[in-house]
Amino acid sequence: MTDKRKISVTVNGTTYEEIVDVRLTLADFLRRQLGLTGTHLGCEHGVCGACIVLADGRSVRSCLMLAPQAGGMSIVTVEGIAPSETELHPLQEAFRDNHGLQC
Ligand code: FES
Repeated sequence: MTDKRKISVTVNGTTYEEIVDVRLTLADFLRRQLGLTGTHLGCEHGVCGACIVLADGRSVRSCLMLAPQAGGMSIVTVEGIAPSETELHPLQEAFRDNHGLQC
């Protein structure tokens, strides 16, 4: 039997009320449950940094954080840093220009 929790979390300015498995990582929650696949997974044990997001303004490795721990927090993913729908953030431009799509 899997234990579940209801969380309220704001991601890129939108607040979500979601039921999550207590063992679901924040990375898998963002990718699978919210469809925000800009957060990538590499090593899945805190080494590569491909999964970094901002949680209440601080960078965290979302493969090491559980989704229930994000309850009440404001998360910003790479999708949320663009200044508008038609403009890229300088970080996004750098990823594009340097073929860093895996990061
Ligand atoms: Fe490598 Fe999270 S996937 S640090």
